[in-house]
Amino acid sequence: MDKAEAEHQIKKLVNELNSHNYNYYVKADPTISDYDFDMLLEKLSAMEKEYPELVLPDSPTQRVGGAITSEFNSFRHTYPMLSLSNTYSEGELRDFDERVRKIIDGEVEYICELKFDGLSISLTYENGLLVRALTRGDGESGDDVTTNVKTIRSIPLRLNGKGFPQSFEVRGEIILPRPGFEKMNQDRIEIGENPFANPRNAAAGSLKLQDSAEVARRPLDAYMYYALGDALTFETHQQSLKTISQWGFKISDHTALCKSINEVLSFIAKMAKDRDTLTFDIDGIVIKVNSLEQQQALGYTSKSPRWAIAYKYKAEQVATQLLSIDYQVGRTGVVTPVANLKPIQLAGTTVKRASLHNADIIAKLDVRIGDQVFVEKGGEIIPKIIGVDLSKRDMFAEQVTFIEKCPECGTKLERQEGEAANVCPNEDNCPPQIKGKLEHFIHRKAMNIDSLGEGKIEILFDNHLVKNISDLYNLTYDSILGLEKINKDSDSAKDKKLSFKEKTAENIINGIETSKKTPFEKVLFAIGIRYVGETVARKLAFHFKDIDAIISATNEELQEAENIGEKVAGSIFAYFRKPENLLTIENLKLAGLNMKIEKQPELASSTLVGKNIVVTGSFGSPKRRKELEELVIMNSAKLSGSVTSKTSFVVAGENMGPEKRQKALNLGIPVISEGEFIEMLG
Ligand code: IVH
Repeated sequence: MDKAEAEHQIKKLVNELNSHNYNYYVKADPTISDYDFDMLLEKLSAMEKEYPELVLPDSPTQRVGGAITSEFNSFRHTYPMLSLSNTYSEGELRDFDERVRKIIDGEVEYICELKFDGLSISLTYENGLLVRALTRGDGESGDDVTTNVKTIRSIPLRLNGKGFPQSFEVRGEIILPRPGFEKMNQDRIEIGENPFANPRNAAAGSLKLQDSAEVARRPLDAYMYYALGDALTFETHQQSLKTISQWGFKISDHTALCKSINEVLSFIAKMAKDRDTLTFDIDGIVIKVNSLEQQQALGYTSKSPRWAIAYKYKAEQVATQLLSIDYQVGRTGVVTPVANLKPIQLAGTTVKRASLHNADIIAKLDVRIGDQVFVEKGGEIIPKIIGVDLSKRDMFAEQVTFIEKCPECGTKLERQEGEAANVCPNEDNCPPQIKGKLEHFIHRKAMNIDSLGEGKIEILFDNHLVKNISDLYNLTYDSILGLEKINKDSDSAKDKKLSFKEKTAENIINGIETSKKTPFEKVLFAIGIRYVGETVARKLAFHFKDIDAIISATNEELQEAENIGEKVAGSIFAYFRKPENLLTIENLKLAGLNMKIEKQPELASSTLVGKNIVVTGSFGSPKRRKELEELVIMNSAKLSGSVTSKTSFVVAGENMGPEKRQKALNLGIPVISEGEFIEMLG
């Protein structure tokens, strides 16, 4: 293909893919299968690799991230980002309406919109292309988060249609829909990281990540609600929303054009009921004067427009009785007090438990067993106790004394200077802490043993088969076949479910076997040394090259590696001074795990990220097959032993087993040759 033809093809593919993207992420109406989309994207990727000078700024390949931002530069907003005045009361809304009508003669129409509970973003488009995304910051200047924002599929990189000015801004809210938020928190808990308190914090945290490839994996979304620019010629706000929607932005359907404040109040009441059916959080309704001429006449105060107001929904509150307090030990040993409440309805769910966070909060609330307490559900998922109804306190109500010993292993709890948490220090023997280490070890970002999960780890642990990460490599098919879930609270036979059948046992053993190929930097992360997250593990691995060098490094030498300060170095140094940890490392080495860097990072790519690949059959020599398997891992895909519905494709050599081939055929999974695979990697 000559260059002119390549240019034409690339343009065509970019347009086609962008239009599928729009249908999927903005319209929620997919027009192509995920597989076909990926194939087109791969085709485009390959052509762009061949002709890097032809990569278009709106190419969907620009969304997958990869660029690292070490510092977010601050930029001045062309138009300041103001806030809205807030109210919680109907009376104040009526006052707002009166103020508006005093200034405006004649009819006034309002547009009601959702008040998205996310973080505001200002997008600048020039000649139809997204050129900059700024956070609100202090309203005058914000941080440049363009690279990260480009990963959000519902934000157009290039506008659709015509009629937009050469330069203008669109503002809206970046949100994290609840299902994605819950999944993200589950993943964090599994690797021992603190979950985010609510979707807003998670969205804000995501947007400020340095690695845009990681941002691309966060299920962020964006709704737009405001267009600004000297050359825009809209007459009403409603018209501006309709037009920016045609240009490719995502606009909420939940809006209402109201002719009176009473109609506004009905919409507020309707959404108060319907808000639970939305997939994302809102914290109120924004009411805006529809006519832009009237908006201009009303003008602004120094902080907010006089043509808009936000009605905020009150966090729902109820009173109920505190029955008792349980203490839960987390994976890092932190002990959290949890209140057991007399069950009560709150914001559509029955609440039975509420977090009391820590000893300081209990003392501050001076809460006692038997008290009537006020419970509130704000943006947080877990309700919290916000106060005590002292008028109802029983004179014999029992004071709460925080436990002194770990409820799981009996070890005396410790509390570090200046920290609020009470912690069980018995990290190697306390059951939830051991299970936490095992769950971290098997996590997708660590050894990636997805045939094991929280439940299966619990079964292996409760049956005394694994107590340490290296024990996983002593498991055999026979030792785990037929293992049962041990129900500690019941002896009844029906609670004893047979958990590990033939297929399960086989998958677990295969998964553990495959994990031996995990690269060293991930093994180092998987071991679970305190403060050694993914990035630190990578830096450490590439700096020292092998585990023995890390073990024998002094505290000062550890700090010579990039990103490693005193606290992290101290933790690593202490870890390798404990004989039981050295034994674990020795056992992992014996099991055949990678304990040194095999390839330089430049060779790695994220071309196959998210793919699940099976390499099967013979490829001339066992060495060649191993090389192909390594290519799978080096290019960020997962290598699997068996064909399942999760398999992305099979790389088949000669003599691929007929059963496997049939299974792939039945599931519609592509089977490709070695040559096609290499071509795919460019
Ligand atoms: S309009 C000049 N519309 O609420 C006013 N804001 O308290 C421009 N927000 O910073 C804002 N949903 O982040 C507007 N439908 C909506 C909104 C909305 C959420 C946020 C926005 C703003 C804050 C103001």
